[in-house]
Amino acid sequence: MSESFLIAPSILSADFSILKEEIQKVEAAGADWIHVDVMDGHFVPNLTIGAPVVKSLRPVTRLPLDVHLMIEQPERYIGDFIKAGADYLTIHVEATSDPAAVLQAIRAQKCKPGITLRPATPVEKVVPFLPLVDLVLVMTVNPGFGGQSFMTDQVSKIDELRVHLRQIKSSALIEVDGGITAETARSCRGADVLVAGSFIFKNDYSSAIRQLKGAKP
Ligand code: DX5
Ligand code: ZN
Repeated sequence: MSESFLIAPSILSADFSILKEEIQKVEAAGADWIHVDVMDGHFVPNLTIGAPVVKSLRPVTRLPLDVHLMIEQPERYIGDFIKAGADYLTIHVEATSDPAAVLQAIRAQKCKPGITLRPATPVEKVVPFLPLVDLVLVMTVNPGFGGQSFMTDQVSKIDELRVHLRQIKSSALIEVDGGITAETARSCRGADVLVAGSFIFKNDYSSAIRQLKGAKP
């Protein structure tokens, strides 16, 4: 487990008309990764951005691009996102009939695979895939929208996943996404990476990022 949280601002809450400036501002404010939420209007009831936007963003920051695919059959698009410059590519375990094949294909293309699960999905569903990933994402809201309330009942999944990762001697990182604030971050102490959209973009970026990092004493 890392000493202090890595912070991944979700650009879903940024001002899309000045995305480059927004990313450079959170980078200057101490962000560690940039979290990119990709939604297809099928897996989740919302549409956001695709690989061409990731490609345009790649040259504007040195930070890793952490791409969260909330799309059905992610196998159709992983090549595009990897070519566009994704560093981490996370798929939902419920989104494909063969998660292992998709994760292996991501790694074969020199990208870091991640797996995630919806709040209603038990940890057991992702356990078989843990040996194949560099990142496990715990959703603390139902995927689809920024600005929702943190689901406290999901927090126990962090420690459960940590136990499973230790058992297989995996150094995969645990990331939490949804409803993260300075307050809710405190209950995520067992995690490595926190995604935050509205808490960062609706506040002073430096102060918000500092508060989140400070939430892991
Ligand atoms: C939700 C997305 C999140 C979202 C987080 O489907 O995966 O990354 O943007 O936004 P906040 O921090 O506002 O809950
Ligand atoms: Zn996300």
